[in-house]
Amino acid sequence: MLNFTAPPPLSLYVHIPWCVRKCPYCDFNSHAARGAVPEQEYVDALLRDLEQDLPRVWGRTVHSIFIGGGTPSLFSPESIERLLSGLRARLPLDQDIEITLEANPGTVELERFEGFRAAGVNRLSIGVQSFEPEKLKALGRIHGREEALRAAEAARAAGFDNFNLDLMFGLPQQSVEQALADIRTAIGLEPAHLSVYQLTIELNTLFHARPPALPDDDSTWEMQNRLQAELAAAGYRQYEISAYAKAGYECRHNLNYWKFGDYLGIGAGAHAKITDTGAITRLWKLKQPNDYLRSAGTPAGIGGEDKLTREIIVTEFMMNALRITAGIPSRLFAERTGLPISVVARPLEQAERRGLITWDMESLRPTDTGFRYLNNLVELF
Ligand SMILES: C[S@@+](CC[C@H](N)C(=O)[O-])C[C@H]1O[C@@H](n2cnc3c(N)ncnc32)[C@H](O)[C@@H]1O
Ligand code: SF4
Repeated sequence: MLNFTAPPPLSLYVHIPWCVRKCPYCDFNSHAARGAVPEQEYVDALLRDLEQDLPRVWGRTVHSIFIGGGTPSLFSPESIERLLSGLRARLPLDQDIEITLEANPGTVELERFEGFRAAGVNRLSIGVQSFEPEKLKALGRIHGREEALRAAEAARAAGFDNFNLDLMFGLPQQSVEQALADIRTAIGLEPAHLSVYQLTIELNTLFHARPPALPDDDSTWEMQNRLQAELAAAGYRQYEISAYAKAGYECRHNLNYWKFGDYLGIGAGAHAKITDTGAITRLWKLKQPNDYLRSAGTPAGIGGEDKLTREIIVTEFMMNALRITAGIPSRLFAERTGLPISVVARPLEQAERRGLITWDMESLRPTDTGFRYLNNLVELF
């Protein structure tokens, strides 16, 4: 039996599973839309799905919503408005809730952004990836450099002072200078937040079947170090492996994942983690959009459900918490896992001896070395 003093903060993830086209590097649950997307039906399904989950979180307030995908910006502002009104009617939302929506630059125009804002979205996350035409082509993106620039400008013009740009580096045949040029262009657009991911080759993607020529490890290492320096000089603090923000603009929704908070997940393939008396449950929804549409809100719409074992709880807590550069208060371990921190006394001592973490009763933090060799550090747990 796990021992919780209070349930952790609660977020809500909403998955929209369609894109204009499937990118060759992407292993998200996203599907090229053939013809019109069934927006109305899908919003209805999402609300039914939420209703079925509600008894798991009675009385708890939601402090962030993330509408991700796929490409949520494919949906009309009217559909997003109907979705958010439906959520408001069913769930207590925090007064200053963060509501993020992911957008693809190939699917935006100013009016659309204004509509999302009027619907209650207060943070946009724009998938730019690169500003270089040749790289965008290699990545199979549906937009060019100009649209990427315009999307950021439209976000600002629509009143979003809080927007994020997603960038990737280590792209096919990318030089260090090209990666830096992308970062400088992004910084020039003055987003409040930047997510910068190294391109990884994922199973079940076109890039896995036909791998492109990627820069070698030394180059990607140099890219990473130099773009970090560039971002720091421009006032973006790295607060997680891939996340950089101006002070006060850290993404609350993602921080909740990394601090092992709770979240509901509605939509095709969405995952949830819920802390209840004495246990942590993970559940997920059917992955295929058509199956989901048919069965959302009924027991058949649940893809599966697990009670997490103590071992998994400890590993997942560490895997997430150690991603946060600033570290965490040590008491968070007991609060979120329901276990005393003494259960990890041995690996904590080992990690400390190897110079990978610093910790005491107040705080627990990866050192620079620990952060660099995060996989080795997490393995200890
Ligand atoms: C769901 S997508 C963002 C929104 C929208 N679908 C788009 O692509 O414009 C989330 C982000 O994950 C990153 N990503 C996806 N696949 C990746 C991979 N194989 N390696 C590194 N980053 C990846 C991209 O930066 C992408 O913008
Ligand atoms: S990267 Fe974004 S746009 Fe491309 S397939 Fe994945 S979710 Fe869709």
